[in-house]
Amino acid sequence: MDLAGASAIVTGGASGLGAATARRLAGEGVRVVLVDLQDDLGDAVAAQVDGAYVHADVTDADQVQAAVDAAVEMAPLRILVNCAGIGTPARTLNRDGEPHDLRLFAKVVAVNLTGSFNCIRLSAAAMAQFPPLSSGERGAIVNTASVAAFDGQIGQAAYAASKGGIVGMTLPIARDLSAIGVRVNTIAPGIMDTPMLAGLPDAAKESLGQQVLYPKRLGTTEEFAETAHFLITHSYMNGETVRMDGGIRMAPK
Ligand SMILES: NC(=O)c1ccc[n+]([C@@H]2O[C@H](COP(=O)([O-])OP(=O)(O)OC[C@H]3O[C@@H](n4cnc5c(N)ncnc54)[C@H](O)[C@@H]3O)[C@@H](O)[C@H]2O)c1
Repeated sequence: MDLAGASAIVTGGASGLGAATARRLAGEGVRVVLVDLQDDLGDAVAAQVDGAYVHADVTDADQVQAAVDAAVEMAPLRILVNCAGIGTPARTLNRDGEPHDLRLFAKVVAVNLTGSFNCIRLSAAAMAQFPPLSSGERGAIVNTASVAAFDGQIGQAAYAASKGGIVGMTLPIARDLSAIGVRVNTIAPGIMDTPMLAGLPDAAKESLGQQVLYPKRLGTTEEFAETAHFLITHSYMNGETVRMDGGIRMAPK
């Protein structure tokens, strides 16, 4: 798929995997709208990529619609990359035998799963308004799951449920959107070196890297952006979830 002259929405675009993807797409001539809740970082990345930042919670229909409108105003919307996510760990029963906070479970699912779907449905409606490219395609959507969708660890019930939901909805949404020529794929990253891991000391990051099959290091944001770019531009990739994890299989903890 030819990216030139298109606009893209990248959620979670103020930081980490989303920011790297925004930079990669902008480097290919795409006009990028960043959706996030971190205004200072969002404005800074938007300035770097000559794009726009829209403060929007991915779970909010009106706020995401405003971001879609901003993208459509810049250029035909053809790309959505869902990177916004949260991952607050909690056990089903904690060490004192208290049950998982149900609101916390619902919040993680709301942001990661429902939020991704909210952005997909509103972006797809806008993509459908533009004529197809000469290849017949109208656009491409990339979601971000996690290896936790398959190997969720202790304390990851909510996160793994939300990411498993993203994997599960990838094919049916690809089937739905085949009617308008929009492909839908998902990346399941392993352990990536992003601000999500910022709280960890270097020794802990080094130890996490040693758990990777090969190469023995954390993944980089650029490697994620490269995979997103591949899934967006490769016209025969559709309905798939790609693990991008150096071969890691997560242990229970
Ligand atoms: N870092 C990893 O090791 C890793 C591994 C697998 C999957 N992931 C997934 O990759 C995605 C990106 O993570 P990252 O590592 O870049 O983290 P990050 O914290 O750097 O970026 C996530 C961004 O999402 C934004 N966000 C959170 N809730 C939001 C909401 N309701 N509305 C709009 N924006 C919101 C945050 O403000 C943040 O800027 C997440 O979905 C995460 O679950 C990360």
